[in-house]
Amino acid sequence: MKNIQVIGIVGAGQMGRGIAQVAAQTGYDVILFDAFKNSLDFGHNFIKTQLDKGVEKAKWTKDDAARAFSLIKTSTEISDLKNCDLVIEAATEKKELKFDIFKKLDEVVRADAILASNTSSISITEIAAVTKRADKIAGMHFMNPVPVMKLVEGIRGLETSDETFNVVAAVSEKMGKTFIRANDFPGFAVNRILMPMINEAVYALYEGVATAKDIDTAMKLGTNQPMGPLELADFIGLDTCLAIMNVLHDGLADTKYRPCPLLRQYVAAGRYGRKNGKGFHVYDK
Ligand code: CAA
Repeated sequence: MKNIQVIGIVGAGQMGRGIAQVAAQTGYDVILFDAFKNSLDFGHNFIKTQLDKGVEKAKWTKDDAARAFSLIKTSTEISDLKNCDLVIEAATEKKELKFDIFKKLDEVVRADAILASNTSSISITEIAAVTKRADKIAGMHFMNPVPVMKLVEGIRGLETSDETFNVVAAVSEKMGKTFIRANDFPGFAVNRILMPMINEAVYALYEGVATAKDIDTAMKLGTNQPMGPLELADFIGLDTCLAIMNVLHDGLADTKYRPCPLLRQYVAAGRYGRKNGKGFHVYDK
């Protein structure tokens, strides 16, 4: 099987910086790319802070943290990813943006390298179709917060080869994650199941079944979830939840995936959840 040593990460946001941290901590050389210098520096410093916090909590040693941090190089030039064995794209969840990034990656990155996307809902088959290496494209869907969550949802596009899928499975496992294999249908496995649950919680609130706090308490204490569904929606971002519900609704053409009008209204009002301080609950900014 192809040996992976250098991993490129596209996007230094919440997901990209988490993936970069875990990859470096498990011994990979990492090149963290973001077109915006401010985001890149913020993400890079955030990783340093997370590594330092882990030392304080005795999760790992100071030497381990320093070694991991030294394995992460940063760049604002996508061409610096040219010698990567694997690139994991974790840019904003916008179809056209991802298509553009994959076209550029296909031009600049070594032809035998694997290109993966951390997309939560965009079709891997469609992403692969904008490149000339559809067999070397796969989904690696990490969960937030990446250093804590144990899952990588692998997504196999129509043209993804066995070799590519086995390599991304092996890398995920080396990164300490459990890899599950999903085929490329709207929402894959995680969001096909998670988002309708969150959407139903929003309907329960909309129809006055219970308050947001009681809905969350019901599901936290009644079904042993770490966060209630509305709190989780705020954590993920209500704009992201709505975008994924739209993918399910459009892609599966079934009214059972209709996004709740209240979810649409909150997003229209700019209530995105934790990231801007207000969603179904209010947060300190
Ligand atoms: N980065 C790194 N570590 C973090 C972290 C972050 N952003 N947030 C929390 N942690 C760590 C803490 O350091 C702590 O570690 P230790 O126990 O070793 O000290 C541990 O996680 C627990 O944190 P807290 O005690 O602060 O808080 P908590 O017990 O309430 O846990 C949580 C926080 C881990 C986020 C927990 O509430 C949880 O698991 N929530 C559900 C998260 C989830 O479902 N994520 C998936 C969302 S779906 C998705 O990502 C995919 C999609 O496509 C939408």
